[in-house]
Amino acid sequence: MAMEDGLQQAHDVVVIGSGAAGLTAALALAETRRVLVLAKGSLTGGSTAWAQGGIAAVLDTGDTFENHVRDTMVAGAGLNDLATVEFVIERAPQSIDRLCELGVPFNRDADSLHLTREGGHSHRRIVHVDDATGWAVQSALVKAAEANPNITLLPGRTCIDFITDRHREHFSAAGRVWGVYALDEATGRVERHVARATILATGGAGRVYQFSTAPRGATGDGIAMAWRAGARVSNMEMMQFHPTCLYNLDVKNFLITEAVRGEGGHLLHPETGRRFMVDYDPERMELAPRDVVARAIDDQIKRFGLDYVHLDISHQPADFVKGHFPTIYEKLMGLGIDMTTQPIPVVPAQHYTCGGVVVGLDARTDVPGLWAAGECTESGLHGANRLASNSLLECFVFGEAAAQDILARWDSLEDVPAILPWDESRVTDSDEEVVIKQNWTEIRRFMWNYVGIVRTTKRLERAASRIELLKREVEDYYGAFRVTTDLIELRNLLQSAELIVTSALKRKESRGLHYTLDYPALADEPRDTVLVP
Ligand code: FAD
Ligand code: SIN
Repeated sequence: MAMEDGLQQAHDVVVIGSGAAGLTAALALAETRRVLVLAKGSLTGGSTAWAQGGIAAVLDTGDTFENHVRDTMVAGAGLNDLATVEFVIERAPQSIDRLCELGVPFNRDADSLHLTREGGHSHRRIVHVDDATGWAVQSALVKAAEANPNITLLPGRTCIDFITDRHREHFSAAGRVWGVYALDEATGRVERHVARATILATGGAGRVYQFSTAPRGATGDGIAMAWRAGARVSNMEMMQFHPTCLYNLDVKNFLITEAVRGEGGHLLHPETGRRFMVDYDPERMELAPRDVVARAIDDQIKRFGLDYVHLDISHQPADFVKGHFPTIYEKLMGLGIDMTTQPIPVVPAQHYTCGGVVVGLDARTDVPGLWAAGECTESGLHGANRLASNSLLECFVFGEAAAQDILARWDSLEDVPAILPWDESRVTDSDEEVVIKQNWTEIRRFMWNYVGIVRTTKRLERAASRIELLKREVEDYYGAFRVTTDLIELRNLLQSAELIVTSALKRKESRGLHYTLDYPALADEPRDTVLVP
């Protein structure tokens, strides 16, 4: 269905995002359907490729689904949805089998998979490929997708907004999604990719914070697009801070995997050498859930005026350290730190977006025609704090669920109506790129300072009033100039920031990742913060 301007293409299903969630869905659909996968920048530019620790699954004979469910609920501070937690955890072994079939070279011990341990897990249950699991998973998924004749991979496309009933030639107010408007980053033209079903798999919004372990493109695009199209979002105040990001003046976002603590690493005061977790969680110490450990480090840094704390695994044999963490060892050696003999300077940094677009177990959003999977969603799995290595797992389970639901409903999905082209009236190129850069920096800084690990109502209100001002400026700008990836991202970053701050102001308690000095106690009933557009 090519249009006269050559900018419209029709597909059975459009998947936005080429990470673990998007490619899992595409591969499952491609058995019978023609699928287009769109990605901003390169196919490997999302968080999936950066994952270190691994994937959680009950595979050890001494472990049970009940244990994994309990650990997930404890980390999530009771805000998780039990049915979703069970749904995901029971499907984990099957997801690992599928990855093995795709050729992911997980580490093995004789005839079984090697299982490492991470914070919040009562058992060893993390399958991994050394300390670079994400790269191995991403490569295997891309290879399988490239080999599949029913999948078209289109990198270099920044999706702008969904095509909805508003964009039909014959207007309808129903609000269904029919695909997406996407900027071709090379030509600057806006394409229309239409389909009976669209899957959102665009990852998180970590780059809304000044310090984040997430890649450059984690600007909350999908969450903002879904919100604008009428989908509810939930629990956006639950932004996860990883306790151990490398502190280095040149390298800003290098993660030191939680598995370092899982394999015996200690957190130490850098001057006294004291294991300070004893003051915060004497039972679980360094293996307490992330929110507890990140808050403890934040407290040490603020209380003692430190720049960082130390993470030390040098008491383990050097071969053990190098064998378990070859990527981190090499990276640190390049920076002059030998982790087999020296402690590593670390600070907390934003790491994961627990909230997102509300989906059911079938991965459907509120908006007809739109499914979603992975970090851009709030499925009920993570609650108020994600358990380590449960995220990739969620991508595999919900990517598959989205595909199966679309296949099951295929015959009842309507054909795509005639769609209006993108409004090309904004032909002026901006000569004020400095405004975009300046606004981007400003948002990330005040989000870090006012909406970080420890919050207050006053700080949140300050952030809210800045967002309001910036939103007006950015919307004016957006309406006047030709779209670019930077402008699209800035608009989405700001929308994500607004959703985070609005949600944080609504939660009048401290639970999991949301800790506020004004409401330090836990409310009796766990409640999701659901925002309705
Ligand atoms: P991503 O992998 O982030 O992919 C998003 C995709 O969407 C990309 O292809 C991107 O190009 C595309 N996209 C985004 N916006 C647009 C747009 N506007 N238009 C078109 N395309 C767009 N989790 C674990 O379970 N275990 C781990 O060990 C682990 N380690 C981690 C280490 C690091 C450093 C980080 C940052 C995260 C880690 N996580 C880990 C979290 C996990 O990696 C992510 O939550 C998960 O990979 C998200 O997958 P996804 O498919 O939802 O999104
Ligand atoms: C890590 O390796 O510490 C990250 C694991 C995760 O985010 O689940």
